[in-house]
Amino acid sequence: MRLLSVRLIISLILGIAAVSFGFSYYEVLNEKRALRADLERRAETLGESLAGNVGHLWNPGSEKELQHLVQQFGNREHLLGVVVYDRRGAVVAETPELAKTLTATPPAAMQAVSQDKEESSFARLDNLPVHILALPIHRQNEVFGSLAVVHDVSYIREQSLRVWRHTFFGVLTQVFLIVLITLLIVRWSITGPIARAALWMRGLRTGKIPFRQEVPDLDMFRPLAREVATMAESLNHARHAAENEARLREAAESMWTAERLSVQLRRRLADGDLFVVSNREPYMHQRNGTTLDVVVPPSGLVTALEPVLNACDGTWIAHGSGNADAEVVDAADRLRVPPEDPRYSLRRVWLSKEEEEGYYYGFANEGLWPLCHIAHTRPLFRAADWQFYEEVNRKFRDAVLQEIENVSRPVVLVQDYHFALLPRMIKEKRPDARVAIFWHIPWPNLEAFGICPWQRELVDGLLGADLIGFHIQSHCNNFLETVDRVVESRVDWEHFSVLRRDHRAIVRPFPISVAFTEDDGVEPGEPDFNVERATLLRNLDVEATLMGIGVDRVDYTKGILERFLAIERFLESYPGYQGKFTFVQIGAPSRTHIKRYHDLLAQVEAEAERINWRFQSGKWRPIVFLKRQHSHQQIEPYYRAADLCLVTSLHDGMNLVAKEFLAAQRRERGVLILSQFTGAARELHDALVVNPYDIDQTAEAIRVALEMAPQERRLRVGRMRKAIREHNIYRWAGNLITELCEVRLDANEDTQERLRTNVTVA
Ligand code: G6P
Repeated sequence: MRLLSVRLIISLILGIAAVSFGFSYYEVLNEKRALRADLERRAETLGESLAGNVGHLWNPGSEKELQHLVQQFGNREHLLGVVVYDRRGAVVAETPELAKTLTATPPAAMQAVSQDKEESSFARLDNLPVHILALPIHRQNEVFGSLAVVHDVSYIREQSLRVWRHTFFGVLTQVFLIVLITLLIVRWSITGPIARAALWMRGLRTGKIPFRQEVPDLDMFRPLAREVATMAESLNHARHAAENEARLREAAESMWTAERLSVQLRRRLADGDLFVVSNREPYMHQRNGTTLDVVVPPSGLVTALEPVLNACDGTWIAHGSGNADAEVVDAADRLRVPPEDPRYSLRRVWLSKEEEEGYYYGFANEGLWPLCHIAHTRPLFRAADWQFYEEVNRKFRDAVLQEIENVSRPVVLVQDYHFALLPRMIKEKRPDARVAIFWHIPWPNLEAFGICPWQRELVDGLLGADLIGFHIQSHCNNFLETVDRVVESRVDWEHFSVLRRDHRAIVRPFPISVAFTEDDGVEPGEPDFNVERATLLRNLDVEATLMGIGVDRVDYTKGILERFLAIERFLESYPGYQGKFTFVQIGAPSRTHIKRYHDLLAQVEAEAERINWRFQSGKWRPIVFLKRQHSHQQIEPYYRAADLCLVTSLHDGMNLVAKEFLAAQRRERGVLILSQFTGAARELHDALVVNPYDIDQTAEAIRVALEMAPQERRLRVGRMRKAIREHNIYRWAGNLITELCEVRLDANEDTQERLRTNVTVA
């Protein structure tokens, strides 16, 4: 950088000096020309009037008058003197001062006589630069002699030198100022940011700062910084992967990482590709005025699947629901994502307003969602919604068939309750495809499910898959019982599979998880716990010393109202915590087009307000309700700085908030209070497990959590983090896809073939 500055300064000096000297030379030349022209003009005026007078006076014997006349002009500015010559060039009259220097008749005087016209010339007399103007003298139309007017022109040189000197110092000052300003600009806008970037990059390279840390302000190098950040992130991943590999080899652990999944899938899929189908897309493009935002929607499904696709490439087919989604896709409705670091393809499927209304809001979210979650919201089933549900499933089938058209033996992972009919629809057209469906929500018992008028069709659609996954064993059992009751099939309870129309579907639990692989403890540069908590609360304009956190879509299954009641009860029962404990609820509005959700949002807000009104004092409030969607990066500091996290779902397939909270607990001090009705409660035995309907019990759990000894917290969080690390999303995907790839498609085809032959024979 120093070398660059020296080079820059020298080039600047040379460049500016050359240009300035060029200009100055031009200036001096002009000045000289102007002074000479002025002198010539003055000499001419003087010479002409003098020549006329001399002409009148010149008579034989008038030498004295002539001498007197020329002497009168001896003391004019820069005038050396005047000489009158006769026709032969002999001096007739002469200014005495000039007689000393002008010893010979100048050629101009002779020329003026011979050519009868003015002659102007610059010459030197004893090294003195002079200007001589010679004019013919007439009498009675005859040339009688000549007059020479001689000026000292040394002042022109002096004047030019003055201009040069002036320009030189001017240039010097200019060069100095320009170099100084340039250096300051370079320092502020280039050297400074580059030095900061270098420091930051060194930190990243040596692992002294986490890559999650914000990119420093690099001024005009920001686009470069973004690229470097992405590169650093990849580098970091690679480094962690290598470290992990080494650690695993040493400990002979069977830890799953993104890299291991990627290698495993490449081996398993061979020439095939991975296709994921879900209703919700991982990235939505939203236009707000002139800005185009990329939004990651709040969805456990997206949180879980995004790292899998990032690790394995493939294609994710989903509903394009962002208002600017169509602006960024290619002619085949595809784009590469993540936008910052593209790793896989997203294929968007477009739905009309009616389709979205009937299939998504109607059948999926007013019908199946409350049907599968026992949260006491009545499911609504409308025949028109069902038709749209079928229609949209067919639309997605067509999109899938298009995507897998030239792929032999593709692997298709269908997601969730939006697509119960899709597995059979795909298999009917492409029996060579391996199709799995993962049901992200609970499967209720057969009596509860039995109220759905289309239960038969739903179960039949699902049984078209080769593999059907649920989070936990009891959901598998509920499903098999439903199958047993509603469709003609053979349920094999020993192997957990169903044989229907010669197609075997395997049913298995795969507890979903988060992308948690490393346990490095506190990252360098991470602020102190108390400082981070105080900063977060200060930014919320609250004064408190203890903080709880809850993160949910505002959904009636999440038990947010019950949670608030428990906080109220806790503050009633333990008034010592008033003024100290604040609960921050991050609530992303969800499905608000449905009245039940719309009303719930207002209810949650009103309940927080009621409790706050009852207890708040000064700058302390018991509940802060942040009613908007937050990115993972925005939520992470709350997870890290919380003393406890409340997950009080009334019914939940798994609940990834609980796992995300634990993954963020590098300091191992936050306590997890977890509803017994979540899938997560089956795995996270060290959480304080509560029945969210039991307000007193949850209130008591809050007290226990806040008063838990640091050692006990560390022990519990440590054990749960280990469990999640070992059962992370990569293991989930690895197990699911391995199981799917081991299904013997040929067996099904053989059976079909046999069946066809038998029928023919019969
Ligand atoms: C649950 C479902 C997901 C869904 C998510 C968000 O986790 O299992 O399929 O994406 O809720 O709901 P939304 O309707 O906004 O996609």
